[in-house]
Amino acid sequence: MPRAHVELDRRAVVGPVRRRTFGSFVEHLGRCVYTGLYEPGHPTANEDGFRMDVVELVRELGTTTVRYPGGNFVSGFRWEDSVGPREQRPVRRDLSWHSLESNQVGLDEFARWLKLTDSELMLAVNVATRGILPALDLLEYANHPSGTALSDLRIANGTPEPHDVRMWCLGNEMDGPWQTGFMTADDYGKIAARTAAAMKAADKDLELVVCGSSGSGMPTFGDWERTVLEHSYDYVDYVSCHAYYQVHDGDLGSFLASSVDMEFFVDTVLATADHVGHKRQSKKRMNISFDEWNVWYLEEHKASDEVNDEWRHAPRQLEDVYTVADAVVVGNLLMTLLKRSDRVTSASLAQLVNVIAPIMTEPGGPAWRQTTFHPFSITSRLASGEVLRPVIDAPTYLTARHGEASVVDAVATVDEDRAAVFLVNRDLAESARVTVDVRSLPVSRVVEALTLADADPYARNTLADPDRVTPAVNASAVLADGVLTVELPPVSWTAIALG
Ligand code: AHR
Repeated sequence: MPRAHVELDRRAVVGPVRRRTFGSFVEHLGRCVYTGLYEPGHPTANEDGFRMDVVELVRELGTTTVRYPGGNFVSGFRWEDSVGPREQRPVRRDLSWHSLESNQVGLDEFARWLKLTDSELMLAVNVATRGILPALDLLEYANHPSGTALSDLRIANGTPEPHDVRMWCLGNEMDGPWQTGFMTADDYGKIAARTAAAMKAADKDLELVVCGSSGSGMPTFGDWERTVLEHSYDYVDYVSCHAYYQVHDGDLGSFLASSVDMEFFVDTVLATADHVGHKRQSKKRMNISFDEWNVWYLEEHKASDEVNDEWRHAPRQLEDVYTVADAVVVGNLLMTLLKRSDRVTSASLAQLVNVIAPIMTEPGGPAWRQTTFHPFSITSRLASGEVLRPVIDAPTYLTARHGEASVVDAVATVDEDRAAVFLVNRDLAESARVTVDVRSLPVSRVVEALTLADADPYARNTLADPDRVTPAVNASAVLADGVLTVELPPVSWTAIALG
């Protein structure tokens, strides 16, 4: 049995637990909005047509911010289409997902939905195919209190209070050739800088996110960040990172070590951002908005997709059904985001409902939790206070994709009178016995210990069997003499609350 020891020191603080780490993402894509969040006529629908069964699950998931309305969708979007009387809103083609957009849900409706889930709105503007003025118009419509053309239009449309959106994304994945209106780093950096400067002239306290690379595997990775930030450094507050992982060729060992790649990604982007900052002799430190991350079977979802030459409204797209192994990776990626909470100060699990999502729905039918729901929801509930930098002494294994990886990974958070320890065992066959030194923490007992595992690492939750995989109490967790001892099954994710 592999053994590991984790040393925790109350003074080794990485940074605060940032509530924005538990953000998510709603794109007008597939069935995320239509028959996901919004389904008038569904038995649980409220007066606005929003499914309350989904609202309940989103509350349980514990999301904090929600990025909206895209994603690739935003690069062909005219925000004006989606406000005002619904019967006058146009149906448009969405080129990025080859589908029809009815605009029946727009900014004002989505902001009302967010209030039901107690989440913060993070808005993306279309810099790809529009320009500075439409971005400023959206800002005025969304945030200006009253007494101007567009704020008064919002009021006339039934939303008297401004939405007061703080975080704004300057486009989406502008380096990707799949993006409508994609650009070179030089072109995008200049446009992003001008758009950001104009938006900050309207409100200097906005938090603006400039697009980083769509992934660390992009051919322009590194150079893209450098060039874009050389233009925009003084005007923006975050550079974005996006990363999706999947099992390649059945190599579960590499897949379980995906967070090694995420750490590399974060370190590289920060090094590049700091290089640009130092060259400018700037005191400002750029943070990361990791505003798309998840497991996504990008190469395999095609069979279930309902996209063909027809233009359809809300077709089934990207409806990945997640396994236990996927949930372990999602839990581990979230641990990595916590570990870098000094500089990764906002993140969005992509996405929220039906589209590569922790929550699934059937039109007219139930909503249920995917395997990946559980580590996210439990971490959001238990992580509080400050993140501690763990010293992990564990065996390692060699992966084909990510080099050397620790069999056991860990992170911990500590608050005034409680703490939480999050652990993964990446071993495919054996349980791991882990000891955690918690003597410096203000805790004396195990309050709760939950493990997500299954004899079949490919077990999933489905419409027919929605609770096939749920977290179970881990009775092996014991705290004695300042040492927490726990046994972790193979391919598992564990959270232990201490008090
Ligand atoms: O989340 C799905 C898509 O992935 C987003 O629209 C895009 O930004 C990314 O490529």
